[in-house]
Amino acid sequence: MRFIIGLRNLLFRVLYRIIRPLIFLMDPEDAHYMFKRVGVFLGSNGVTRGLTSFLFDFNHPSLHTQVDGVRYRNPVGLSAGFDKDGELTSIYPSLGFGLAELGSFTGEVCPGNPGKRLFRMVKSKSILVWYGLNNQGAEKISSRLQGADFGRLRVGINAAKSNITPEFDLQESIDDYTKTMRLFKDIGDYYTINISCPNTQDGEPFVDRENLDALLTAVNAHRVEGRPIYVKLAADLELDEIDVIVDACVAHKMDGVVLTNLAKPAFNKEYVEDELPYHKGAMSGLPLQRISTSVIRHVYRRTRGELTIIGVGGVFTARDAYEKITSGASLLHMITTMIFDGPQNINEINRGLVKLLQEDGFNSIEEAVGSRNPLPKLKAETQSDDETRVEEAPVSEVA
Ligand SMILES: Cc1cc2nc3c(=O)[nH]c(=O)nc-3n(C[C@H](O)[C@H](O)[C@H](O)COP(=O)(O)O)c2cc1C
Repeated sequence: MRFIIGLRNLLFRVLYRIIRPLIFLMDPEDAHYMFKRVGVFLGSNGVTRGLTSFLFDFNHPSLHTQVDGVRYRNPVGLSAGFDKDGELTSIYPSLGFGLAELGSFTGEVCPGNPGKRLFRMVKSKSILVWYGLNNQGAEKISSRLQGADFGRLRVGINAAKSNITPEFDLQESIDDYTKTMRLFKDIGDYYTINISCPNTQDGEPFVDRENLDALLTAVNAHRVEGRPIYVKLAADLELDEIDVIVDACVAHKMDGVVLTNLAKPAFNKEYVEDELPYHKGAMSGLPLQRISTSVIRHVYRRTRGELTIIGVGGVFTARDAYEKITSGASLLHMITTMIFDGPQNINEINRGLVKLLQEDGFNSIEEAVGSRNPLPKLKAETQSDDETRVEEAPVSEVA
């Protein structure tokens, strides 16, 4: 059976490589909308869903995992930004996804940035994104998804702040996030609070600890029992900025963090130099791979695994996925591999994960989480109150 699935995937990989140049002739945003329409059709009835499952799905018990009380059939997820209006949930399980993060959704309808907003960087294996949080707004999307049965798929609701004005107002911004949380209180399995969109008019004001404290306090007031809350961080932060956010997440009892969002070219030189097509936006894919894994390693060590980590950024193979898991990630998100390698790569990554777990003698994803990122030893302090403190991971090991 394993051989047949391997052959099936190889066939689709070759087929995708043949048609990819034709897809890449299209404007990237047009190609995205075309594939979305195909996905909506495939998800619309049992016959096409069944056929898609036959061609793309993969199941294995060692991939079943439970994170913060939510059960996933596998840890491989679609990242936020692909399904900005939550229209394709019926087809994701057939494509092999265990989870899908929808959005980002904003409190108000958001047209996003004007002009050309997506650029392929083929040599760098990356997408330069200048979308600016375009989506139909939380009201319209939540009323469409109300009562939806997502079946085997676990669904994340990614909430961001509406990108419609360059002025930052703390209370209005917080209300914007909590409006989405309120409207989606009966929809989905977890929330992600996205404080890291690189393409908004008022920057990233929640990197500031005071602003973040106010936001997380409000977010907690909208908590739904049994629904974890994660915070999504940028890739362009200095280590001390990461620490401020992560410490706030621990202090406010967030369940975890999503590491990381896109990287701005000005802060990240890991792309082919002559390939940058536009002076605005931020990059996904390969240029992000090493950075996001380093951040995962750092946060896992700093929090001693106390925060759940969803790893995202440049996952193209099972080895990339496994590296993020063994660094400390419990779940994974991805987009760019679907564009560069094709949809069969989702089950190929799941299939490869089963093999990598077996090679290391693990029976489950949980056993592998953080296994190649040993935690710094706890050092008992000779203080009268018998407190213990955590030794910091040296910066050189993580940057
Ligand atoms: C076209 C596109 C749109 C995106 N939009 C969002 C978004 O709305 N919200 C968000 O949190 N992340 C967004 N992202 C970032 C992704 O969720 C992810 O963090 C990033 O692409 C790295 O993963 P990858 O290398 O597998 O693509 C977007 C990424 C892409 C490629």
